[in-house]
Amino acid sequence: MIKFKDIFKLATGYKSQLSQFFGFNVLTSIFNVVSIGMVIPFLKVIFKDDDAVLIPAVFSTSPSDFLKFLDYEMSLKILEWGKYNALLYFSIGIIIAFFLKNIFLYFSFYNLAYVRSAVVRDIRETLYNHILRLPLSYFNKEKRGDTISRFTNDVKEVEWSLLGVIELYFKHPVAILIPLVTLFFISYQLTLFVVVVLPISGYLISRVGKKLKHAAQLGQEKMGEVLSHLEESLHGIKIIKAFSATKDKEERFKTLNDEHFRLMVKLNRKEFLASPLSEFMASIVMSSILIYSGSLILNADSALTGEFLIGYIAVFSQLIPPAKAISEAFFRLKKGAASLDRINDVLAAEVEKDKNGLPAPEFSKEIKLSNVNFSYGDGPLVLKGINLTINKGETVALVGSSGGGKSTLADLIPRFHELNSGSITIDGQDIKSIELNSLRSMMGIVTQDAILFNDTAANNIKMGDFYLSGDQLINAAKVANAHEFVRELPDSYNTNLGEKGMNLSGGQRQRMSIARAIAKEPPILILDEATSALDTESEKMVQDALEKVMQNRTSIVIAHRLSTIQNADKIVVLDKGQIAEQGSHAELMAKGGIYKKLVDLQTFE
Ligand SMILES: Nc1ncnc2c1ncn2[C@@H]1O[C@H](COP(=O)(O)OP(=O)(O)O)[C@@H](O)[C@H]1O
Ligand SMILES: [Mg+2]
Repeated sequence: MIKFKDIFKLATGYKSQLSQFFGFNVLTSIFNVVSIGMVIPFLKVIFKDDDAVLIPAVFSTSPSDFLKFLDYEMSLKILEWGKYNALLYFSIGIIIAFFLKNIFLYFSFYNLAYVRSAVVRDIRETLYNHILRLPLSYFNKEKRGDTISRFTNDVKEVEWSLLGVIELYFKHPVAILIPLVTLFFISYQLTLFVVVVLPISGYLISRVGKKLKHAAQLGQEKMGEVLSHLEESLHGIKIIKAFSATKDKEERFKTLNDEHFRLMVKLNRKEFLASPLSEFMASIVMSSILIYSGSLILNADSALTGEFLIGYIAVFSQLIPPAKAISEAFFRLKKGAASLDRINDVLAAEVEKDKNGLPAPEFSKEIKLSNVNFSYGDGPLVLKGINLTINKGETVALVGSSGGGKSTLADLIPRFHELNSGSITIDGQDIKSIELNSLRSMMGIVTQDAILFNDTAANNIKMGDFYLSGDQLINAAKVANAHEFVRELPDSYNTNLGEKGMNLSGGQRQRMSIARAIAKEPPILILDEATSALDTESEKMVQDALEKVMQNRTSIVIAHRLSTIQNADKIVVLDKGQIAEQGSHAELMAKGGIYKKLVDLQTFE
């Protein structure tokens, strides 16, 4: 269960701002009371009875005598200055007090503004860095939209509840304590009375919000679904249009959106109950005070006069905003806690294990898969008892019908997933013991969809490798048949590929990603249907690039078109997660098994 202090922990790095926030709050509260209290001398001027006899009083620390002393002093001053001047002086006093109060208020918020935004920045940074280090399996399970919703909405909620918590710690106590002390001075009897009544009503208010956390969590989850749906629709907008599925999508969206709507209505109604409820409580408290104080004034002995009572009520009214804010902080905490839970879920997800962290071996012999079994999560085995040796310099092709486990097998070599059992070794060293970055930098990977980032052509090839020389970069682009068209971009290699109008063709994008894969001159190349998404003409260009790239390298090639892998040293046929056959093209054709059937089918096409 998340408590105030868990939320507050987020801000502990900003002690200096927090202490300034506190200090300025003290000053704000003092001048708030002073400016409000100035109403007392004001009333004194207006209501002064000229014929009344002045009873001298001396300074005393006893509150009731002090009050009499103040009353006497005020009367003296009014006599001395004259009523009109007194009005003027008191007004100037009020202006100065309000001015100072607001200056300090500004400085307190000045610091708070920094802390809240800094914490949001910190959370996003931690989240993003963590997300990048999560294993691929995480992204399959959790939908992208949901992650984005945690990144945006939940962080926003946490920001709100953090504000509530900081104010709860460093503002409201001061904003209550300072007026309260003043009230004690004016009338301790009345204030004792109030001190008993106020917490009781506060407790009642705080009970209302108990169920809010659950509702808030449901709301966030629904929003995650809505965003997922949106994301999916944007991604597949072409397909939606092509299949005239607009109506269907609209209806699905409407269902989700309406469910979210209903949850939010409930949540917001509950939330807004907090404010009227506390105000109603406050009015009950006020009335009790009025009754009690009236009787105190009517009692001639008491030092409490009409002016002081009105001043008292004015100062007392200053207790209401912080009291209200405290009850609201409880509500906000419930929502913020639900959100912090969701953020912590992401942060608690285990990042890729990278323990022993040995550097990658030279790679002079072979990659060896022994008895590899693998399943996604708790699902069925996708790969069963795979034994395969890929010798240095060889081109090994993985073929088989779709869903057979080719991509999965290729993903295991850079350790995108952990094996259920068995092992994968490079030159006899288990890949589990190799540092991930070191392992992956041995491999160049090209997949079916060429991913380009919103960055320059050069940086898209470099991918953060600042040590890559300009020559290496251009060489890679040349081998990938990308140099020619990149040179013709408006700013050549410095052209931002994310900009509008920079629409590269599928083939060009794919050649960019080939250039990226080989820029670091990795000894191992993994090509997963690199040409499948291309038309025949760009396929030729890309295939040509690939053939150049594969020379003198160890390559694992998954190809849809079998004609492109006929020259592979070894062709491995994967069928339902198992190796059905392996050998050269000639051997497998002679054998007349699955491979021959696949080839025949394609020739027939
Ligand atoms: N991320 C994933 N989560 C769960 N199952 C998956 C995932 N990726 C692939 N699969 C399943 O694993 C099996 C093999 O898929 P895949 O390796 O992509 O086959 P291929 O590349 O040969 O078409 C399929 O049954 C597929 O549904
Ligand atoms: Mg595949």
